[in-house]
Amino acid sequence: MKIFESKDGINYIRRGQMIPTETVVNMPDFHLIENRKAIGTLIESKGLTEWSFSLSANDVVYGLGQNMRGLNKRGFVYESFCSDDPNHTPDKRSLYGAHNFFVVLGEENWGLYIDFAGKVTYDIGFEDKNQLKITIEGVDFDAYVFKGTFESITKQFRALIGPSYVPPKWAFGYQQSRWSYEDATVVKEIADRFDSEDIPCDAIYLDIDYMERFKDFTISDERFPEFKSFVKDLKARDLKLVPIIDAGVKVEEGYSVYEEGVEKHYFVTDDKGKPFSAAVWPGKVHFPDFLNADVREWFGNAYHEMLEMGIEGFWNDMNEPAIFYSEKGLNEAIAFVSAQAGQNLDIYTFFTLKDKIMGLSNALSDYKAMWHRMTTRSGELKVNHYDVHNLYGYNMTRAAAEGFKRFDSDRRFFMLTRASHIGMAKHSGIWTGDNHSWWEHLKLNVQMMPSLSMAGFLYSGADTGGFGGNVSAELMVRWMQFSTFTPLLRNHSAMGTRRQEPWQFDQATLKIIRDQIRMRYALVPYLYAEFMKANQDQTLLFAPLAYAYGDSRSLLVEDQVLFGEGLMLAPVIEQNALGRYVYLPEDMVLWKASSVENLNQESFVKMEHGDHYLPLAINESAVFIRKNHLLVLTEPRNRVSKLSYDHLTVIGYVEDEATYDLYDDDGVTNQFEKGIHHKTRLTVVRVGETYRLSVDTTVTTLGNIELYIIDKNGKTHHLKQEKGVL
Ligand code: GLC
Repeated sequence: MKIFESKDGINYIRRGQMIPTETVVNMPDFHLIENRKAIGTLIESKGLTEWSFSLSANDVVYGLGQNMRGLNKRGFVYESFCSDDPNHTPDKRSLYGAHNFFVVLGEENWGLYIDFAGKVTYDIGFEDKNQLKITIEGVDFDAYVFKGTFESITKQFRALIGPSYVPPKWAFGYQQSRWSYEDATVVKEIADRFDSEDIPCDAIYLDIDYMERFKDFTISDERFPEFKSFVKDLKARDLKLVPIIDAGVKVEEGYSVYEEGVEKHYFVTDDKGKPFSAAVWPGKVHFPDFLNADVREWFGNAYHEMLEMGIEGFWNDMNEPAIFYSEKGLNEAIAFVSAQAGQNLDIYTFFTLKDKIMGLSNALSDYKAMWHRMTTRSGELKVNHYDVHNLYGYNMTRAAAEGFKRFDSDRRFFMLTRASHIGMAKHSGIWTGDNHSWWEHLKLNVQMMPSLSMAGFLYSGADTGGFGGNVSAELMVRWMQFSTFTPLLRNHSAMGTRRQEPWQFDQATLKIIRDQIRMRYALVPYLYAEFMKANQDQTLLFAPLAYAYGDSRSLLVEDQVLFGEGLMLAPVIEQNALGRYVYLPEDMVLWKASSVENLNQESFVKMEHGDHYLPLAINESAVFIRKNHLLVLTEPRNRVSKLSYDHLTVIGYVEDEATYDLYDDDGVTNQFEKGIHHKTRLTVVRVGETYRLSVDTTVTTLGNIELYIIDKNGKTHHLKQEKGVL
């Protein structure tokens, strides 16, 4: 084992020669440290590595990106193994992402990133409450150990993996999706209804329904005739269509993607070197070998045809990869089942029979029977899928992202994907997969957002309202209240479930949801600024309270999160709750956000640090403004592109002075990477009994600014400033 150290004190540990993940893009200068004692206890045996650390009684463990359970991961076992499992029940150990970064806070603060392509298991105080035991299914890996504050540890890590994916600004608008918008007429009706109901919306998704028999890069002529002009018509209304692309390519003579893939040996192979056969939506499929650079280029270019038709983004799905069954697995299962015909099955045989069928999907034996021709710097490497499983979805999305760059290197394209690895955060955002319309999954969403920020997945969000199951109006509203702050705000649901577009509920609910979406649009400039700054400064967009507050209570808060530099959110996540308890680590100002139309001096209440019970009617959510911080709203419009700086509202809790940098840029190009952007610095200073705002801006269209500033005695000062200038 070699241990190196950077000048910032990051310890870099190299064990053998790992399969490259291309996750770390900014490698600091490291120097070898001779005779450095290993960190934790590391044991290698039978091709596995076990790495253990002791935990102190009060240590908390945050991180692991997209995974189950609470903010503090202590007390359970988790896996990094991209899994297609729609039932996110508490006994599950993994979800769709593999994110090997966590931070321990307590007696000593430290963080660890394990750069590895295969499975990693984390027993975080489950077998032994005082031990964190990591099992790496391999002996070749890199690891990075960080020390410092929560903030400095996460910053150092994010600096290593480089900036996260930035979508076009319209992606901060509301997005409507459902698996079963079966044809162009239905999609148009959805678009029309948003406009007739006066509900803001920027994008409508096309799920697998738009394809011709679930074939990637095809469009059903029957259901979506004249696709190009359909895209154009919606675009003229400033609405984007976002089509889905699945990992599996249908096996079908005459289908060009399949034929070319076979001819050029672009598919993942089986033990005999033949394209591996599995089944997903279209029946039999082959999986493109995304770990191969030629395959990535080929697949990435396949997106171009739809880009030429005016499509501006996609979602990549089923890329864990999800396997309903493999040909081999199905044959074996059928043989077993047939052999039981006419038998008197006892409990064991019956369960075996059941398991044979239930175990067909995503079987490890299938993953172990798949082979890649991985492109590495030192040439092509034949690798077993199991050992690089977590890189598959990542590289599918990388193929798309690189394809978009070749199409137009200066334009931002929308990209969302399901399976992920930390290395993918630079290429795409993620949604959190097939959740359910369960209150537990709203809570999981709240708890997952901070760990996703830690892992660099800033552009993310859940299927708002829940994908599986039937959503109640109440759950829809409460979920919308939280998703108002997640960069991805997408209402998505599964075929066969209760419809959950805003107008599918009663009139009162429709009004609440409309107001909520209008609030989202009023917040877009602020959310976008927070997002871009979190990306550039490597700060957390969502964070546990302990990110900013050092008291022991803050370490344990599981259902309140910090958003950006100035807010704390305390969402209602329980059925029938007309309020909730909150813990305030310091004095804050509460905005019971229900609408942005009716703000007045009574809308804001200063609250003392400590514990409180907060009544929150169904249309109210708790948004707290932290001391000496500002929140900025604009006037809502029905599209992101229509938002302006004509009339801004600044809300602040200011004892003496507060400053806010309202970042902005063109929202469509990559010019921001060269530092080309607008900055508006708002500074509110207390002058005796009143406040003064000063504005330093490069925005020429800045209009009037209205201020609600709450002072330390809780008095709201309502001020107006013409043209934003004193
Ligand atoms: C997967 C996706 C889901 C999609 C469905 C049909 O379950 O996660 O979002 O609607 O496939 O394509």
